[in-house]
Amino acid sequence: MEQEKKEIILSGIRSTGNLHLGNYYGALRKFVEIQDKYDCNFFIADLHALTTATDPDALHQSVKSVLAEYLAAGIDPEKATVFIQSDIPEVSEMYLLLNMHVGIGELMRTASFKDKARKALGIKAPSAGEDDSDEAFEHQIIGAETNKRVNAGLLTYPTLMAVDILIQKATKVPVGKDQLQHLELTRRFARRFNSFYGVDLFPEPTDFDLTGGKPVKVPGLDGSGKMGKSEGNCIYLIDDPKVLRKKVMRATTDEGPKEPNSPMSEPVANLFSLLELTSTPEVVTHFRDAYADCSIRYGDLKKQLAEDILAVTTPIRERVNDILANEDYLRKVVRDGAERARARASETLKEVRQIMGIRPL
Ligand code: TRP
Repeated sequence: MEQEKKEIILSGIRSTGNLHLGNYYGALRKFVEIQDKYDCNFFIADLHALTTATDPDALHQSVKSVLAEYLAAGIDPEKATVFIQSDIPEVSEMYLLLNMHVGIGELMRTASFKDKARKALGIKAPSAGEDDSDEAFEHQIIGAETNKRVNAGLLTYPTLMAVDILIQKATKVPVGKDQLQHLELTRRFARRFNSFYGVDLFPEPTDFDLTGGKPVKVPGLDGSGKMGKSEGNCIYLIDDPKVLRKKVMRATTDEGPKEPNSPMSEPVANLFSLLELTSTPEVVTHFRDAYADCSIRYGDLKKQLAEDILAVTTPIRERVNDILANEDYLRKVVRDGAERARARASETLKEVRQIMGIRPL
């Protein structure tokens, strides 16, 4: 009996450190929910990490820990295909081939490239009133009188990401806001390839919104903005209880409400957002009422918050440690994952080579 074809979902995460609560609530937890229903493919984008990572040992460690964190959070390698990007050499070959159909102009205009290129050169983004034109940016990149450089891998980052998606012929890609432009480029590259060669090889992938229109807000501990590795405001899944409690107790707050029913400042609202994610509705109501009648003590709120976060992260942290101690298991997971991911990738690459006029191997 032919099995019903499930839609192909693909998501990658760069291995540049440990996973935090934002990764968990924003992505991981949802991945666990959908892994039964779809043909899920979750991979660790270590080649993408190379565009900014320079320490080989740290990169290697991070691949391993992100893998363990994925599994510990409930991703089941029997249900989903879990793999490491660099285990699929077909990706690197197709990256070269697809680059022939990608313009350096469209890559240079990508917001994330501008951002990372400026960072690499130590140039500030133009503020209001300053020249923000593509020409000015190009001039900075090409003409920078510095011994720093913007590596070409950073420029072609979107090509590599498009290849990750197209080589698996994935149709749904859950991405955050910051990756939507890359997904748009992927669609454009797919269309371009199909129409240039008059083929119908690549489906156009769309964003898979896992939030049901209600994005989860996972703010950081520093009073503003979302939790993010580069912001230094994270609670990591593997933070040990002492570290975690300390971080929460040090979170930014304000002087406290002076009048009943005062509006909340951003830092305090952020703590409530975290409480809403991790605590029971009763606890949230208790502290909201205490805020409203000015009896709140932020110390109590933070203590409660730390314990409720720990209730979420402790089982995960314990599983991470078990998994990391089991090298054989980890090896088996990545071997099986690579085998499955390569099967599809090599099929697609074969077609691409043929379509482009490269002799079969
Ligand atoms: N660029 C993505 C990020 O930084 C990671 C990524 C690489 C990815 N390849 C992908 C995500 C393919 C989805 C699909 O978050």
